[in-house]
Amino acid sequence: MIAFKQSPLLDLFDIRYPLIQAPMAGANDADLVIEVSNAGALGSLPCAMFDVAQAREQLEKIRASSNQPFNVNFFCHEEQAVTERQELRWRDELAPFYKAAGLDLNKPLKAASREPFSESMCQLMEEFSPKVVSFHFGLPDRALLDRLKAAGCKIISSATTVEEAIWLESHGCDAVIAQGVEAGGHRGMFLTSDIATQTASLSLLPQIVDAVSVPVIAAGGFAEARGVKAAFTLGAAAVQLGTAYLFTSESLITDLHRRALLESDSDNTALTNLFSGRPARGLMTRVMQEIGPISAAIPPFPAAGAALAPLKKHYEQQGKTDFTSLWAGQGYAATRRALMTDSAISAKASSVNDLYSVPAAQMTQWLVDAIG
Ligand SMILES: Cc1cc2nc3c(=O)[nH]c(=O)nc-3n(C[C@H](O)[C@H](O)[C@H](O)COP(=O)(O)O)c2cc1C
Repeated sequence: MIAFKQSPLLDLFDIRYPLIQAPMAGANDADLVIEVSNAGALGSLPCAMFDVAQAREQLEKIRASSNQPFNVNFFCHEEQAVTERQELRWRDELAPFYKAAGLDLNKPLKAASREPFSESMCQLMEEFSPKVVSFHFGLPDRALLDRLKAAGCKIISSATTVEEAIWLESHGCDAVIAQGVEAGGHRGMFLTSDIATQTASLSLLPQIVDAVSVPVIAAGGFAEARGVKAAFTLGAAAVQLGTAYLFTSESLITDLHRRALLESDSDNTALTNLFSGRPARGLMTRVMQEIGPISAAIPPFPAAGAALAPLKKHYEQQGKTDFTSLWAGQGYAATRRALMTDSAISAKASSVNDLYSVPAAQMTQWLVDAIG
């Protein structure tokens, strides 16, 4: 067991608290990073949906408002071409939904963009030299990794199996994120594609702690202080929380997404590949129920999302989330309940909505105080 106040990551990342706000592409930008890092934890900037100019703008914003360490996050999937057969099969699957919505399936689609780490992003990292660079779906080429290390960046990445954790350590990670199956958003899996055998945090974390010698960061289902304490008991050196930070005023989720987090019954998430082609956890929506959350008729990541976009837009205009990805981890209802019943949070809230859009600095301090 590692004591919260004696984590080796406090020195390695130069942070006051061993808590990491998970990077959440599309759901957070510089504003959340600034608040979390200034509060003493590690804020994370997700760059998978930014081009270099957008990433630069975000980094400049962080530097202007914080001199604290932060993490910059990238996807590093291998880009796969979509075959005509794959595209047609997926369109066939979606054809009844297009018809019911009165939409034209033959209109050109806007490509779904999630860029892997690249030479130009590496140059940007060399220029800004963030304290930590994190990856999802493995690691980039050794040459790029060596340049990041030479620029002084510590490298971390997600493992969803013991084998992936050992691989990440042997390929140069300074710490490994053990991502349990409870986690919201995309699974970082890269040596396996079998979601049936993906493991929950409680089982995965201690096994990874025993298998590697670098510090292990727990992620997936850690909704409030009790879970964080349990992760430290199991040997974590830090905890990375994503879904909990969706409940902050700085998170960028839409009002529809926020409302769904507030109103959904507990236990209402599933892993689905429908929105991107890779498995990710989110609240159940109509498309997941009607096609089934996992489809074999899916083009490779990230292309699948393109054909869903017109349906998403159509239903969102009616205030519906039938075709919207509502990423959330299994702990969302636990965070919601913890915020609702905490007197320190409710004392500062003037409405019910305030309870669930807590300033990120307050959310961080709330966790730290309760961990003790
Ligand atoms: C809305 C959302 C978006 C996410 N996007 C990313 C991302 O861009 N990069 C990444 O490494 N992880 C991403 N994740 C996964 C997180 O890094 C982390 O594994 C997860 O949030 C931990 O589980 P929790 O949501 O139960 O706290 C995302 C998670 C959520 C909820």
